[in-house]
Amino acid sequence: AEGDAAAGEKVFLKCRACHQVGETAKNAVGPKLNGLFGRKAGTIEGFSYSDANKNSGITWDEATFREYIKDPKAKIPGTKMVFVGLKVDREIDDVIAYLKQFGPD
Ligand code: HEM
Repeated sequence: AEGDAAAGEKVFLKCRACHQVGETAKNAVGPKLNGLFGRKAGTIEGFSYSDANKNSGITWDEATFREYIKDPKAKIPGTKMVFVGLKVDREIDDVIAYLKQFGPD
């Protein structure tokens, strides 16, 4: 379903402990998430990724992101992202709509 970016901003509160996104975003516990869709996994400059993430061969698009965010450790065994995942499809739709607002730097 088509996501709602405003609702996705609230879903992103679950990510904010570790991730920033937007004009002033910096890498933190996790990499900044600007320009996510269309980008190869593990390629934000200055962030120290796990080998598992860097070598995953994933390009982030809606399909790969959906699989990942439902169960990060299933999609990328060995990832250092410690997050149980988003289990509600509607929340995934909404967070995708939210993240799509932010292009690459
Ligand atoms: C990596 C999204 C929650 C820590 C990533 C990546 C994405 C992502 C797409 C891969 C980025 C890339 O390849 O450049 C999200 C979303 C979240 C969330 C949408 C919330 C729904 C969290 C939380 C934490 C976290 C809560 C910390 C407890 C990390 C770390 C990495 C990462 C450390 C790097 C993984 C590695 O190198 O193996 N996240 N994340 N994330 N995330 Fe998250």
